[in-house]
Amino acid sequence: YIHDHPVFPASQLSSFKAIVTMSDIITVQTKPYSGQKPGTSGLRKKVKIFQQEHYTENFVQAIFSAMPDGSEGKTIVLGGDGRYFSPEAAQIILRIAAANGIKHVILGQDAILSTPAVSALIRSLKTDGGILLTASHNPGGPDEDFGIKFNTANGGPAPEEVTDRIYKITEDIKEYKIVKLPDLDLSKTGEFQHGPIKVTIVDPVSNYIQLLKEIFDFDMIKNWLHTTTPKPTVLFDALNGVTGPYGRAIFIDELGLDESSVQQCVPKPDFGGSHPDPNLTYAHDLVARVEKEQIEFGAASDGDGDRNMIYGAGAFVTPSDSVAIIADWAEKAIPYFKSGIKGLARSMPTSGAIDIVAKSKGLEVFEVPTGWKFFGNLMDAGRLSICGEESFGTGSDHIREKDGVWAIVAWLSILAAANKEKPGSGINDVLMQHWKKYGRSFFSRYDYEQVESEGAEAMMSHLRETFASSGFVGSELKATSSDTSFEVAEADDFSYTDPIDGSVSTKQGLYIKFVDGSRIIFRLSGTGSSGATVRLYVEKYSKNESEFGEDAQVGLKPLIEVALSLSKLQEYTKRDKPNVIT
Ligand code: G6P
Ligand code: ZN
Repeated sequence: YIHDHPVFPASQLSSFKAIVTMSDIITVQTKPYSGQKPGTSGLRKKVKIFQQEHYTENFVQAIFSAMPDGSEGKTIVLGGDGRYFSPEAAQIILRIAAANGIKHVILGQDAILSTPAVSALIRSLKTDGGILLTASHNPGGPDEDFGIKFNTANGGPAPEEVTDRIYKITEDIKEYKIVKLPDLDLSKTGEFQHGPIKVTIVDPVSNYIQLLKEIFDFDMIKNWLHTTTPKPTVLFDALNGVTGPYGRAIFIDELGLDESSVQQCVPKPDFGGSHPDPNLTYAHDLVARVEKEQIEFGAASDGDGDRNMIYGAGAFVTPSDSVAIIADWAEKAIPYFKSGIKGLARSMPTSGAIDIVAKSKGLEVFEVPTGWKFFGNLMDAGRLSICGEESFGTGSDHIREKDGVWAIVAWLSILAAANKEKPGSGINDVLMQHWKKYGRSFFSRYDYEQVESEGAEAMMSHLRETFASSGFVGSELKATSSDTSFEVAEADDFSYTDPIDGSVSTKQGLYIKFVDGSRIIFRLSGTGSSGATVRLYVEKYSKNESEFGEDAQVGLKPLIEVALSLSKLQEYTKRDKPNVIT
């Protein structure tokens, strides 16, 4: 399949003449693979699929061919969460980059860089983009998941226009170009000439930690941690993902805590065999130790470091509350926001807790569809500072990805600031104080994973028909096990018009708003790998202080009953219980 006489454009010949000889660039004939359609999180498939002959090469060639203004002379960042197949993929990418005229690659040592760190590097070094090797919170290993994602020069995931172009190219790709380069030693930092490209291998952590130190007041956090008696206890769990070295740099090197304050902090190619997903189900080691040792501040991040969970003894912070509380404290606790907050935002299913903070501060607040990409335009336009999603994503305009470690340090900052006001404040005190001021949005999500797609689609159609039937708006929906009923105020399929570029995204989730402000939302996940995942979100707002201490599942029970009976979920999905409740 290798041409006897390599073919390549004259433009490349002239620019490389001095360094590579003609025979160094090889054009390899290939055939398209179907299904190389990148979502906003890139192309995610099983490792075995990526290992097929030409599969990875095809997709990587398509990325370079689709780069805005071409790949010639460009600089990119390359790194990922260290999962299985990452070093092999990095070598392939270097060879194809070399043949496509890429001039300079900034590579994380051992091909490691968290997703937020890639975004930060793209922005601080003003590169033309970056390639991330990750499948986020999904398991890793020879039989598990791998992923390749392209980010553009603003540091954010490539917009649909670019990913569509990549996909089109993969659909009729006939050849790709490589330079036959030996494997580069990825373990040493420094500057290397690798065939025609300059490769700078960087320590994955230092640039990112520098950025965090510009954003946060580390001295204030240290002061709280070291001068309080008894000393607050802290535990960070990287779930064997990429944030291990970042966590160590922060908790041990910067904040001066001891080894017992971190766990699972060595990135493993298979994440130790578990899901590197920071939620109550998959971060059970953290939850168990926090409860057993009554640790005040616990936190975890996902495989590639963009998600987070905040969990102290007896105190779970829902992601919806987390972003609202960060927004509320930001100007006081985080120097980056001292000069003011531009605007706030959340995804549609995320609770309205942040809306209430926005209202009280007189800030703009945006409700966007699920997916971090929807925040990017607003940030680039200077209208958004802090945003979050119920799916354990929280972040700000310091980069263009959500940022797990940032959220964790934001919470440390809040606790440090809260302790200045009222010594001894813990996570529960901060939560309670917030609810007393703004009311509490009870929120929960039920996930029904690997449901048959047909059943899931049928359930959504049934709901759409119900919404459209006359008299639905204004009707009373009654809970099955109590007298509670809810009057429908509005029911629709969420659609979003981007205020910056006017683009319209339709069918982003079915929602019912009730007269009392409660909501029920149904969505099919966009990230599942087999079958369909039905997500049911419920939200209830309360200003009644006597309810604030209540377990969310108790308070939300009537709404969940309404949602289940209205949707006939159990009938359509043949599931009587969700796989995960968050
Ligand atoms: C990824 C995206 C998030 C998004 C989430 C939704 O993690 O980066 O921005 O919220 O997927 O996943 P879902 O499975 O609900 O479509
Ligand atoms: Zn992730």
